[in-house]
Amino acid sequence: MPHTSPIHPHAARVSQVGHTAVAHAPAGLRLSGVHFAHAGVQPVFQGLDLAVAPGEFVVLLGPSGCGKSTLLNLLSGFLSPDRGRVQLDGAAVFPEMPALGYVFQSPHLFPWLNVLDNVAFGLRMQATLSRAEQAARARHYLRLVGLDEAAHKLPHQLSGGMRQRVALARALAPEPALLLADEPFAALDAMSRRHMNEELLRLWAALGQTVVFVTHDIDEAVFLADRVVVLDRAPGGIDSEFVIDLPRPRRVLHTTRLPRFQALRDQLLDRIDHVTTASA
Ligand SMILES: Nc1ncnc2c1ncn2[C@@H]1O[C@H](COP(=O)(O)OP(=O)(O)OP(=O)(O)O)[C@@H](O)[C@H]1O
Ligand SMILES: [Mg+2]
Repeated sequence: MPHTSPIHPHAARVSQVGHTAVAHAPAGLRLSGVHFAHAGVQPVFQGLDLAVAPGEFVVLLGPSGCGKSTLLNLLSGFLSPDRGRVQLDGAAVFPEMPALGYVFQSPHLFPWLNVLDNVAFGLRMQATLSRAEQAARARHYLRLVGLDEAAHKLPHQLSGGMRQRVALARALAPEPALLLADEPFAALDAMSRRHMNEELLRLWAALGQTVVFVTHDIDEAVFLADRVVVLDRAPGGIDSEFVIDLPRPRRVLHTTRLPRFQALRDQLLDRIDHVTTASA
């Protein structure tokens, strides 16, 4: 059965990757009493409350149109609530905050920049590091996503999965305290997707960001999350929450065969089916 979860902070997670310490401590998110409607259409949220602990990995699931992307855009400050508050460590969010990394559903790479310059783009905008430090940092994250060799290629010379990895490296390079990801692996084949899921967890375990991740894939949700939040059809808000108490580190071939994984997946399948059919 769905239940309201306690929050699982990961304050003790190691915050070193190689020689690079994370630039920002993981951040806690809080939405309180959020009302939001896109112009001229029915409300998406009416009094939404959600808290995400520093270092927590939360996955949002829910039927198409329930408001997952809208919620990410409220969390990033790209959209502002009509009423209520969205706060990161107690302060109002805004899109330019250095704590924020955003991975979009499609990679949105700059086609005229090579891979290294794409990854360094956010660092260049922040202008807090020298050009040599920016290049070193970008190289470091390219290595972490396994693309060091591709540094001087242009995006059109890469496979779809490689482009997604560049987009992930670009979002991670400024070492954001908060990573928001909107179905980032939806376009990948099943093998690449599993690989990226493991890679993301490996990076998260090392860096300890707070993550809010949207997917339609229930297996992906269970594999990644500390907590899965199921959204109801708009303007229903949160339907239910599931604590994913699977051991870490997780490996696809091992974790997905655990009876507990299968039990959680079945509970979520039932719940999503209920949400989808009850509101159809
Ligand atoms: N820019 C917009 N203007 C007007 N309505 C919008 C806009 N963006 C989204 N909506 C509406 O808001 C609701 C929530 O949309 P949203 O994109 O957040 O859903 P979602 O859960 O991300 O769906 P999907 O799973 O299909 O990506 C939908 O009814 C959608 O039609
Ligand atoms: Mg969406």
